[in-house]
Amino acid sequence: MAKARATAFFCSECGYESAKWMGQCPACRAWNTMVEEPLAAASRTAPARGAAGETRRDGKTLRPVSLEEISLEETDRMRTGFDELDRVLGSGLVAGSLVLVGGDPGIGKSTILLQVCRNLAAWGRPVLYVSGEESLKQIKLRAGRIGPVSGPLSFLCETDLDAIAQVIRKERPAAVVIDSIQTMDTEAVSSAPGSVSQVRECTGLLMQLAKGLGVTVFIVGHVTKEGVVAGPRVLEHMVDTVLYFEGDRHASYRILRSVKNRFGSTNEIGVFEMREEGLHEVSNPSEFLLEGRPAGASGAVTACSMEGTRPLLLEVQALVARSSFGMPRRTAAGTDYNRVNLLMAVLEKRCRYELSNFDAYVNIAGGMRMTEPALDLAIVAALVSSYRDRPVDEKTVVFGEVGLSGEVRAVSMADQRVSEARRLGFTRCILPAANLGRVRQAGGMILDGVSNVKEAMALL
Ligand code: TYD
Ligand code: MG
Repeated sequence: MAKARATAFFCSECGYESAKWMGQCPACRAWNTMVEEPLAAASRTAPARGAAGETRRDGKTLRPVSLEEISLEETDRMRTGFDELDRVLGSGLVAGSLVLVGGDPGIGKSTILLQVCRNLAAWGRPVLYVSGEESLKQIKLRAGRIGPVSGPLSFLCETDLDAIAQVIRKERPAAVVIDSIQTMDTEAVSSAPGSVSQVRECTGLLMQLAKGLGVTVFIVGHVTKEGVVAGPRVLEHMVDTVLYFEGDRHASYRILRSVKNRFGSTNEIGVFEMREEGLHEVSNPSEFLLEGRPAGASGAVTACSMEGTRPLLLEVQALVARSSFGMPRRTAAGTDYNRVNLLMAVLEKRCRYELSNFDAYVNIAGGMRMTEPALDLAIVAALVSSYRDRPVDEKTVVFGEVGLSGEVRAVSMADQRVSEARRLGFTRCILPAANLGRVRQAGGMILDGVSNVKEAMALL
């Protein structure tokens, strides 16, 4: 008889479990990600069942229900006190949901969650903040920066998740923050905190708590590149909502992006500014992103991108310079590198620009990451403007998708983009000709529809 296995191999990217080591994970195709870890206790993975197969481990009997029996009342949303966060969540928090907040260390995850806890507590909702990383003193210092705290907000410095679960069952808070999942451990598995199976087991336990008690649970997860510590990738499949906090640590603003949301759309972003006294919402990100725009410089073009339902104006910069080596260098910061290469090939082939002896650097100002195809025309315009050293009029906004034969294709929500540009004082808009019919009111803006890249370049 085969000996019962004590360990197994887990993929640190996706959590795939295998009895033997493999160089490549068959599930997510990542290389060298399998790590050996002890298995969970047998009682959890393979429960012995008697004749009463429909009885759960905890003695309850399973009973399927019809649609009429399901009430929708539990999906009442709870405000977080930040409109930017509520929108990313899909108009507020859902009771009993599991929200993962990921991001680099020092980006502000603990800060924003502490601010949310403070808002919830101020409205009388009991909240528990569990920190496995910082001492109570450190938390108090941070709380001192974000302002006075009132209401039922309590703290716990602990990493033993089984004990924390007991506290949650007893206190029944409306929301719990677990900061961070990589520091938590449960008895069910013997591997170290932060390992794939430990992170998986802990999240499973938190999920049971959230669904069983209707507690909203925020889980903080650090993003790490090494395979040793389980990144939030493993968790993403288990939780309801995944939010990523991004931005340059050295700049002051932060972007909260949802990459998965069972209760809302996934393309919304929230913009915040890190100040001395915590995070502040930025409700006018376009103004923020266009701040400090150079006047009359070549290679800078204002574009309009949609982030979910909100139009964002931003500056696309390009620098095209003669290459000193045989191989020209191309870089893209904040946008897709391959897309930039493709657009340069279109310029060479369709517009006869000799770009093969030139280095090209493309950057989205402000550290934003934007990959919407509607930015294509602005990238092309910025490249040509820098190549010919001719500035583009600074009151002009450009958007449109560029196809392989140099045609400019229609984009979605042209109307919203034009009104945002008008609101910020732009006077001219270069957009796909196919979109012209759908723009209802230009309000004094000059609208120039173009159907290919050549036409657009002639206009600029
Ligand atoms: P933190 O929330 O601890 O980051 P994380 O939990 O994601 O690791 O944020 C730490 C950074 O934020 C730190 O560099 C200090 C800065 N900060 C401010 O600028 N203002 C503030 O009010 C607070 C609380 C932090
Ligand atoms: Mg932290």
